[in-house]
Amino acid sequence: ARKIIIDTDPGQDDAVAILLALASPELEVLGLTTVAGNVPLALTSKNARVVCELAGRSDIRVFAGCEAPLTRQLVTAEHVHGKTGLDGIALPDPSMPLAEGHAVDFLIETLREEAPGTVTLCPIGPLTNIATAFQKAPDIVERVAEIVLMGGAYFEVGNVTPAAEFNIYVDPEAASIVFKSGVPLVVMPLDVTHQALTTRARVEAFRNLGTRVGHAVASWTDFFERFDMAKYGSEGAPLHDPCTIAYLIEPDLFSGRHINVEIELEGRFTAGMTVADWWRVSGREANAMFIGDVDADGFFALLTERIGRL
Ligand code: BDR
Ligand code: CA
Repeated sequence: ARKIIIDTDPGQDDAVAILLALASPELEVLGLTTVAGNVPLALTSKNARVVCELAGRSDIRVFAGCEAPLTRQLVTAEHVHGKTGLDGIALPDPSMPLAEGHAVDFLIETLREEAPGTVTLCPIGPLTNIATAFQKAPDIVERVAEIVLMGGAYFEVGNVTPAAEFNIYVDPEAASIVFKSGVPLVVMPLDVTHQALTTRARVEAFRNLGTRVGHAVASWTDFFERFDMAKYGSEGAPLHDPCTIAYLIEPDLFSGRHINVEIELEGRFTAGMTVADWWRVSGREANAMFIGDVDADGFFALLTERIGRL
């Protein structure tokens, strides 16, 4: 199984991504690292454990990480995810403790201990923890197999500002460090996630699993939808973060281009924008596989089948 660390700020879509990973024998989850993003760190660290316990996996280690972006004030998204970050269904408080130590140190130690090129990082929140680890221990950078992250946008442009996607916008300095790191990157931008829509039928399929986990996933996606459907006028809400995990399990569901992506740090209107050279006009070297399309039916079939295993 492929070894992964999920760096996350749950968030309903983060929660579904974590469940998908825990349900999939192709992946070995070495640990979860939490970051401030959708809600403050104390809540994302709590929510990550709520999700592990829902999956019956209190053995998974959850490490709390950075509580604020590298240089900026934290921006959160309660308007999308609710006050708890996981609104939609009331689940019991976790009884499993946080793992001891800082998420950044866990990332560094794990990458040093495991054989080079065997650990994949899956960031689905702001990139603060990953960038901090790379800055603190530059020797680990070349040991990372791959980074498969959710963030950015090209044709779909922005969701938190007209120009920027949330995960990149919250900590563009961190994103820039990661995009310049030289680690092979796969990026799931809004262009892809806005194709992975939770239609009525897809949400019902989760509910019809008839399991506690299926019910939770349906309730979360229902909640999420209330906000997003009004915003985008689409048939359902985009299920962003699980796209990264689905890519690790079934990469053929996705297609994209290997291109140069730079992070805008200064723009008056465009801070946090992913300047993606889709048409390859800049002459700058490619640094990311920027995904543009997903087979949405295939994605939901995989997701529903896996959620059904929990
Ligand atoms: C991203 O922002 C968060 O609100 C979601 O969890 C996802 O990671 C989408 O822009
Ligand atoms: Ca997220």
